[in-house]
Amino acid sequence: MRVLVSGGAGFIGSHTVVQLVAAGHDVVVVDSFANSKRSVVARIEALTGRPVELHAFDLTDRDKTERLFGEEALDAVIHFAGYKAVGESVERPVDYYENNLGTTFSLLRAMSRHGVSTMVFSSSATVYGADPPVPMQEDLPTSATNPYGWTKVMQEQIFRDAAVADPSLRIALLRYFNPVGAHPSGTMGEDPSGIPNNLMPFIAQVAVGRRERLGVFGNDYPTVDGTGVRDYIHVEDLAAGHIAALHRLTQTDEPVSVWNLGTGQGTSVLELLHAFERACGHELPYEVLPRRAGDIAESYADPSRAHAELGWRAVKTIDDMCRDTWRWQSQNPEGYPE
Ligand code: NAD
Ligand code: WQD
Repeated sequence: MRVLVSGGAGFIGSHTVVQLVAAGHDVVVVDSFANSKRSVVARIEALTGRPVELHAFDLTDRDKTERLFGEEALDAVIHFAGYKAVGESVERPVDYYENNLGTTFSLLRAMSRHGVSTMVFSSSATVYGADPPVPMQEDLPTSATNPYGWTKVMQEQIFRDAAVADPSLRIALLRYFNPVGAHPSGTMGEDPSGIPNNLMPFIAQVAVGRRERLGVFGNDYPTVDGTGVRDYIHVEDLAAGHIAALHRLTQTDEPVSVWNLGTGQGTSVLELLHAFERACGHELPYEVLPRRAGDIAESYADPSRAHAELGWRAVKTIDDMCRDTWRWQSQNPEGYPE
């Protein structure tokens, strides 16, 4: 297939591009580099041994998106492009709605005009809202607790409505749990700008000496050790889930399919910290801080639908995730070069 990967220079997109090429697909990347560096492109090319067809523009620009679809004979779209920081979305809600919904509008319009009917969309477990029962199943009601989460709920609804109007559409809504890890080569990984919001990149920066200690947000949750429990999934497993979903969409009659991509296993903050200590070979300092607003005690997937329908399941362990993150962070202490 000839696949347009929106946000293909980002953390999950870059790993997925490498696997798409390895699986024999032609890939066209669109990225504005709003939250990624251009040097990732050379890293992708080194791993695939092929040049990346890159279009650097903002996908909220409908005319440019339309022009690209006119030039390329595309079969499918994998849509990663969007802003993803929860706290920032509370401070800049209009930017989040404009960017995350705007990219989706441009793509859906261009797909409709050019007869492209296959779309794999990056949704999130955040659509399960404030206090969902665990393990989370796909048919739970959706809601959100912050503007970022609402953009995902709204995009899912936009896709459902579009598929009612055009039943030829085949759309996968992939609800990721907590993506972490890095390419096993150590050449690609997560490179947040500024202070990391998420746990794994924060721990990795403590391990490499960029931050003094981890702040643990609360140790009085009703969990195994009082710290928050999450379903961490290796980015390589996640990327493989996209390829499985893409193939499944060519065989299904369902216009919209929803699949959780998680391991089904919960890991606490302290368990992840100790696993990382094993990977990097030294102790990592931490202090317990108050709970972070909006956090829930436990989040983990019921991944059985993806296994039954996609033949996919996550295979990498927490130790694999920490080992690969450490390889990436220790080889690239400051992330990607400019
Ligand atoms: P990322 O920020 O690394 O990648 C997103 C990419 O999209 C970046 O390269 C950015 O430059 C690009 N982009 C943003 N707006 C754009 C626009 N208007 N036009 C063109 N390019 C644009 O994020 P990621 O972690 O790789 O996440 C990818 C997707 O998965 C996002 O939609 C995110 O919301 C979703 N998701 C991520 C997580 C997570 O924890 N990483 C969890 C659930 C869902
Ligand atoms: C994990 C655990 C924290 C940082 C977020 C988004 C979600 C999704 C994935 C996109 C929690 C604790 C964290 C730190 C800590 N993104 N923690 N110290 O909150 O599960 O999910 O990213 O869709 O929408 O909300 O992930 O990595 O931020 O936190 O103690 O410095 O680590 O309290 O228990 P979260 P996270």
